[in-house]
Amino acid sequence: MFNIAIDGPAGAGKSTAAKIVAAKLGILYLDTGAMYRAIGLKALRRGINTRDAEKVAQMLPDTVVEIKHIDKTQNIFLDGENVTHLIREHNVSMAASDVSAIPAVRLKLVELQRQIAKQNSCILDGRDIGTYVLPDAQFKFYITATAQERANRRHKELLEKGQDVSYEDVLKDIVTRDKNDSTREFAPLKKADDAFEFDTTTMSIDEVVEKLLSIIGNKK
Ligand code: DC
Repeated sequence: MFNIAIDGPAGAGKSTAAKIVAAKLGILYLDTGAMYRAIGLKALRRGINTRDAEKVAQMLPDTVVEIKHIDKTQNIFLDGENVTHLIREHNVSMAASDVSAIPAVRLKLVELQRQIAKQNSCILDGRDIGTYVLPDAQFKFYITATAQERANRRHKELLEKGQDVSYEDVLKDIVTRDKNDSTREFAPLKKADDAFEFDTTTMSIDEVVEKLLSIIGNKK
């Protein structure tokens, strides 16, 4: 059993690369951002201010977040409803970033992440996996790219999904989320001291995957 942690800002290529690496190694892929998105979605639906720690925390005891792998693909359920696609809506990104700064939210979701990681060899992508969730993970990576390139990638993804959003809005959103995620008090986005860091700005996904696999292969 082993765990691989991949942290970094939105759009650095974590999830796309992690999915491919998981398939190649025959291990589970866990997208931890999806969990924060599910809580963000619930707050939005309830009309709760996503920055209101007290209101969001009050919602948590009767909130059930579940991860189920269907045909090897991660599906996320919120109170029994499959919200896998809904959480990808553009407005849910900022809500997720907001609720992720609330300690009660993190404590609830980190517990679930640790449980899954304990039971399976898996690759987890997030912001605090190497620093907080799994400080003893066997492999740790921190991947970045310029904000412009990350916004480009996100914008393309959203357009492909039929969401009508401008590049400028996506870039603004990415810059705000970077700031939110890296300056929050509890388990912020940060490179673990022992993580291997690289910049993917000019790399293709195949190159990112190759780099990850070469490092994992060398150490395994
Ligand atoms: O990876 P993503 O863009 O789907 O994540 C959405 C938000 O969730 C992100 O802006 C910050 C938060 N997040 C977090 O705080 N910790 C994680 N391990 C994963 C995501």
